[in-house]
Amino acid sequence: MSDIRTILITGGAGFVGSSLAVAFRDDFPDVRVVAMDNLTRRGSELNLPRLQRAGVEFLHGDVRQTDDFAAAGHFDLLIDCAAEPSVQAGLGTSPKPVFDINLNGTINSLEAAARHDAAFVFLSTSRVYPIAALNAVAWSEADTRFEWIQHDTGVSPQGITEEFPLHGSRSYYGASKLASELIAQEYAANAGMPVIINRCGVLTGPWQMGKVDQGVVSLWVLRHHFGQALKYIGYGGTGRQVRDILHVHDLYRLIRRQLDSVTSWDGSVYNVGGGRDVSVSLAELTGITREIVGRSVPLSSVPKTSTVDLRVYLTDNSRVSSAFDWRPQKSPARIIEDIYEWVLQHEDSLARLQPPTAAAVQPRRDGHRSQVGGR
Ligand SMILES: NC(=O)c1ccc[n+]([C@@H]2O[C@H](COP(=O)([O-])OP(=O)(O)OC[C@H]3O[C@@H](n4cnc5c(N)ncnc54)[C@H](O)[C@@H]3O)[C@@H](O)[C@H]2O)c1
Repeated sequence: MSDIRTILITGGAGFVGSSLAVAFRDDFPDVRVVAMDNLTRRGSELNLPRLQRAGVEFLHGDVRQTDDFAAAGHFDLLIDCAAEPSVQAGLGTSPKPVFDINLNGTINSLEAAARHDAAFVFLSTSRVYPIAALNAVAWSEADTRFEWIQHDTGVSPQGITEEFPLHGSRSYYGASKLASELIAQEYAANAGMPVIINRCGVLTGPWQMGKVDQGVVSLWVLRHHFGQALKYIGYGGTGRQVRDILHVHDLYRLIRRQLDSVTSWDGSVYNVGGGRDVSVSLAELTGITREIVGRSVPLSSVPKTSTVDLRVYLTDNSRVSSAFDWRPQKSPARIIEDIYEWVLQHEDSLARLQPPTAAAVQPRRDGHRSQVGGR
C-alpha cells in the first residue's frame, strides 16, 4: 500500500465502489481517492454527500468514453467497480449495453491503467460459472434450504472452487465479466500490469440500493422496514434457494491485504464469498430480517424459475484464504443489523426510492432492533 498515492475507483458512487472509497480514505487519509461514475444506478447519487464528507473526489464520467478518464489525473491503482451488475440484464432485449459497459468499459479502464503504469483490481463475479452446470450439482431439500450433496471437480464440501468447469452459458452479465477477466489477464501477461481478479458471490451491506434483480439482502431489509410485499420467485416458490453473502467491509479487508503484494499480482483468479458459514436461503433471510426489523410483510410465491436463477451458490474460499490469510468476519445477522441501522439513519431519502404502490403499512419509526445470535 505504501507506493499507492492515488486510487481511481470506477463505479465509485455505486454500492461497492463507494464503500471501498470511503474505507480507503478512513484508513489512509493521505491517499487521494477518485470516484468516477456516470450515476446511472438509481440511488448512486445518494452516495455523493457521503463521498464528499470522506474527502473522496467525485468525477462524473463514463467508462465507455476513453476521454473521461483524463480528468482523474495520475493514479497508481484502478479498482474496476463500474457495471451493469444485474444477471437479468439483456434478457428479452438487446444485451449490447451490458457488453458496452461491462466489457468495453473494462477495456477502457485497462487502457487507462496502462497509461499510468497502474495496478488493476477486477471485481468479477461467481456468475462466470455456467448456470446449467451449477444447477446440475446433486441436491436435497432440507427444512429451510436446498443443500448440495455431491462433491466433484470444482465442488468441495465448502462450495465452488476455481476449478469448476467453465463450459456452458452463464447469462450476458456473466459472459461480459468472464470476457473481461480474460482480457485483464492478457494485460497482466503481455504488458506486465499487476492484475488481480476477485470472483465475488453476493456482496451486501449498508448503502446497497437493493432492487428486485440485484441486491437481494438490502431489498429484503428495505421492504420489511417500509412494509412492502416480497416474493419468493422460482424453484417452486418456497424460498429455499441458497446464497453465501459477504459484507462489503469484509471485501475491503481482503483488498487491503492483497495490496501488500501488488508486485506479485499476475492475473490470478480468486473465488471470494461468505462461504457456507455466512450463507442464507431466502426463507432464512426472511426469518432473520423479521426478527431484526420486528415486523412481517406479505410474502407471495412465484413457482416459475428464471432461466438465469441458481438453486444454490456457495463459495469455497480456500484459495483466497490461504493466499491472503483472510476470512469473512460478519455473520448474516450482523450484516442485516448493519443494513437496518443504515436504513434507520437514512429513512427519508431511502423512502423516495421505494416503489409507491407496494406500501402495505407505515415504516417502523421506533428503530426496533432485536438482538439475534450467531454473528
Ligand atoms: N453486488 C454484488 O453482489 C456483486 C457480486 C459480484 C460482483 N459484483 C461486481 O462488483 C462491482 C460493483 O457492483 P455494485 O454492487 O456496487 O453495483 P452498483 O450498481 O451499486 O454500482 C455500479 C456503479 O457503476 C456505475 N456505472 C454504471 N455504468 C457506468 C458507466 N458506463 N460509467 C461509469 N459508471 C457506471 C453505476 O452508476 C453504479 O454507481 C460490479 O463490477 C459487479 O459486477 C457485485
